[in-house]
Amino acid sequence: MSGGELVARLAAALGPKGCLVGDNVTGRYAADWSGMEYRPSVVARPENTAQVATVLELCNEVGQCVVVQGGMTGLVGGAVPQPGEIALSLERLNRIEEIDRLGATMTVEAGAPLESVQEAAAAAELFFPVDIGARGSCQLGGNLAMNAGGNRVLRYGMTRENVLGIEVVLADGTVVSAMNRMLKNNTGYDLKHLFIGSEGTLGVVTRTVLRLHRKPRSRVTALCAFDSFAQVTGLLQALGERLAGELSSFEVMWQDYYRFVVERVPGNVAPLEGVHPLYCLVELLGGDQTRDQEALEALLGEMLERGELADAVLAQSLADASKFWRLRDSSAEAAGVAGSFVAFDVSIPLARMEEFVSRTTAALIAIWGDGICLFYGHMGDCNLHLITTRDPTRPDMKGRICEAVYEDVARMGGSVSAEHGIGIEKRPFLGKSRSAEEIALMRTLKAALDPKGILNPGRIFSVARTQ
Ligand code: LAC
Ligand code: ZN
Repeated sequence: MSGGELVARLAAALGPKGCLVGDNVTGRYAADWSGMEYRPSVVARPENTAQVATVLELCNEVGQCVVVQGGMTGLVGGAVPQPGEIALSLERLNRIEEIDRLGATMTVEAGAPLESVQEAAAAAELFFPVDIGARGSCQLGGNLAMNAGGNRVLRYGMTRENVLGIEVVLADGTVVSAMNRMLKNNTGYDLKHLFIGSEGTLGVVTRTVLRLHRKPRSRVTALCAFDSFAQVTGLLQALGERLAGELSSFEVMWQDYYRFVVERVPGNVAPLEGVHPLYCLVELLGGDQTRDQEALEALLGEMLERGELADAVLAQSLADASKFWRLRDSSAEAAGVAGSFVAFDVSIPLARMEEFVSRTTAALIAIWGDGICLFYGHMGDCNLHLITTRDPTRPDMKGRICEAVYEDVARMGGSVSAEHGIGIEKRPFLGKSRSAEEIALMRTLKAALDPKGILNPGRIFSVARTQ
């Protein structure tokens, strides 16, 4: 089958809406949020699982490489087409099929946006806890493929912990339906976990059964300021002891980040007076607004009295809570305001986090004295984000910055990706967090499931292709 024949067969199988070529391929299919960009010549937009299977079967037959696309909000270039790849967009598989209120599950297609899933759960008095900044655009299939993390992992786990069942199409078009609906099911290998977090390299997620939770009746939000890192970990421990079941977010902002978003990102206000080395956004989700608010107030009051906190303010309204969260959610705008930047998403053991921040800051200042280092992140999950600037006139600088940061990550026993994945962007650094044996096993799995190497090739690691 020639390339032209393949496109003709895809068009015949998918219809005019299902196969875009030439000028109909808009910029939407060319770029994600990583800054990488390449416009594919063909986009397949199937509307059901059977059509996804047809696309893959046809492509596999001729060894045509395919890049899988969801909401295009990834940060590591995984969904950005590479030359010669056909894009496979799941955007038309966007139905919410069923909500089981008693069993607390939702059956949904891969292209459903995260926010619509959250809203549908809430309308049924239930709760889907996975929440990330891209909620309005990102899609469930992408959340599964990347094992998305976000703001409530501390309490509810990553996407992986909130998925019960999965339907995937393998590279050769085989449909594997493992749409389990129960928390317990030890009947052999738990296949869903093979695909969750595999970045679309092992199969294409088409449907999933999500685990929902009862809808929280209370939300208590506080912003705290600290004189030292030890005070931050002290609060995390105290919350774990006193309010473990309710603590859902523990988001830390180092002073440079906090001041940057207050001073440079329009619309932000500083809820606390004075300047402190560290700030933290704490959120509880519980069952009783008055009781939960009083419990947090009491804990923070005691700690303030003992000098274990520098300052704290409790949100008195949803508007207050939004203002606090806006500071934390200003990271993307901060990067835009900062100019040419390099962003990181790493995990560092808590015991070494302070050392990591000071070592990395010193290393980056040595590379570029004018640079800024904005540290923040989901500290309750050991997940740090860093935005640092680079001199746009020096093309070698990004590489030097990455080397310096990942060197320190490896030294501290951390991970080069906490929640954004490897994609194309971090491929050179996978070996800093994974052993040769681990990567060899990943390659064995890839070869077994996708022997021709057509699915998201080159994401996570490079693959030698056979026709
Ligand atoms: C955040 C994204 C960058 O937490 O993961 O802001
Ligand atoms: Zn994050």
